[in-house]
Amino acid sequence: MILRANPIRSGDRAAFRRAEAGHPPPMTASDHEQGASVVVYENGPLLVRGDFTLRTPDGTEIDPGRDTVALCRCGKSAIKPFCDGTHKAVGFRAAAGRQTPAPRSDEAA
Ligand code: FES
Repeated sequence: MILRANPIRSGDRAAFRRAEAGHPPPMTASDHEQGASVVVYENGPLLVRGDFTLRTPDGTEIDPGRDTVALCRCGKSAIKPFCDGTHKAVGFRAAAGRQTPAPRSDEAA
């Protein structure tokens, strides 16, 4: 399975070129310290890397086959939950940052 990550961080053209070449940016020391990190990419997927476990709602583990994966955020991938790059073809648009205010602590699930 080939995952085409799209780790575009607004303004980070070097990271974009590396991602398009199939080489997502390297993990930082902070990523290693946190165990895993999730990066939301503008108009693209969620890039998850580090020490994580991917599961279905019933707890079944999904083997990602690697320690960096791009998870589909547009809903159009043919290989969900992974991104296959279809977000580009369908013109998926979403900001990388938060689009709504953070919930108050008494509103959080
Ligand atoms: S986010 Fe890439 S295919 Fe959905």
